[in-house]
Amino acid sequence: MKILAFESSCDETAAAVVEDGRTILSDAIASQADMHALYGGVVPEIASRKHVEVIAALCDKALADAGVAKSDIDAVAATYAPGLIGAVLVGLNYAKSVAYALNVPLIPVHHIRGHIAANYLAFPDLEPPFLALCMSGGNTLLVDVAGYTDFKLVGATRDDAAGECFDKAARVLGLPYPGGKPMDELAHGSEGGVYELPRAKIDGHELDMSFSGLKTAVVNLAHNAEQTGKPLDRAALARDFTQAVSDELVPRTLRAAERYGRKTVVAAGGVAANSFLRADLQTACDKAGCKLYLPPLSLCGDNGAMIGAQGYYEYMAGARADWSLNAYATREIDDPIVAYDK
Ligand code: KG4
Repeated sequence: MKILAFESSCDETAAAVVEDGRTILSDAIASQADMHALYGGVVPEIASRKHVEVIAALCDKALADAGVAKSDIDAVAATYAPGLIGAVLVGLNYAKSVAYALNVPLIPVHHIRGHIAANYLAFPDLEPPFLALCMSGGNTLLVDVAGYTDFKLVGATRDDAAGECFDKAARVLGLPYPGGKPMDELAHGSEGGVYELPRAKIDGHELDMSFSGLKTAVVNLAHNAEQTGKPLDRAALARDFTQAVSDELVPRTLRAAERYGRKTVVAAGGVAANSFLRADLQTACDKAGCKLYLPPLSLCGDNGAMIGAQGYYEYMAGARADWSLNAYATREIDDPIVAYDK
């Protein structure tokens, strides 16, 4: 079964063709990051306009790269939530029009479910159940994945997302947007252990996280250094910051896996590209006797193929949307927008 999938929740426009949820036939992506870098972060209005400009050409490219005709497409999948509302609306409405024109089903896909499903494309043996750590620019969640469409949110950030925190810390260190990758590179220049940064603890909610205190601490350190003229060890700060993020995420992930009786852990989202986090997750999973799946770097960030992968399993479970399907800026991963019939 061939699914044509669209993703437009933030600053990447993406269209892909995926077969049976596991094989990427094409994965066309147009990143707007350079444009937003001028402003130090994503400007929602610009994001929406850029999606409008490129989505039709990307759709054609996805079909051409896959070597399939429009008539070969069995269903259309699209991100309907969460994300920048104007941006999501562009991809979703384009997907609706394609599904309508091709007379095929429209499948709504939750963006974070898609990030998790990116792993199905890389690892043919991976099947639920497992515990997923999802960390992206806008969301940071711990999810118990009991089945392909059976999700339970078990922990989440109470404020900023891990990626947002990376981007903000990078910005005050003078690094370009998006800041995660340059922070990762900078952090390799130090052993760390120089700056004391906070670790959050939320009483009674040991699987929930908080990144705003950490973000503020880095911003204050950078501003104080600027005001007092004291030199800032940027590499050490990047390293210590990354360690603080890892300390926030990794132990909670293993705690969640233990609590929900999972022996498989899956990482997902743009921040899953972080080399220190990957190493720390591997060490922790080895110690706990858990099998860890880390998505290849090419599938960590936003892409259309992950929406096609999850779209397949949503389709198999009976998820179908009608033309009234709306886009949502926020929507929990375990709150499906349509009913399943299987
Ligand atoms: O999943 P993603 O592409 O978009 C969303 O769905 O939000 O994630 C983007 C986030 C950005 O905040 C970016 O800085 C971060 O992923 N990121 C990283 C790394 N590469 C990308 N964060 C830490 N280390 C990295 N190597």
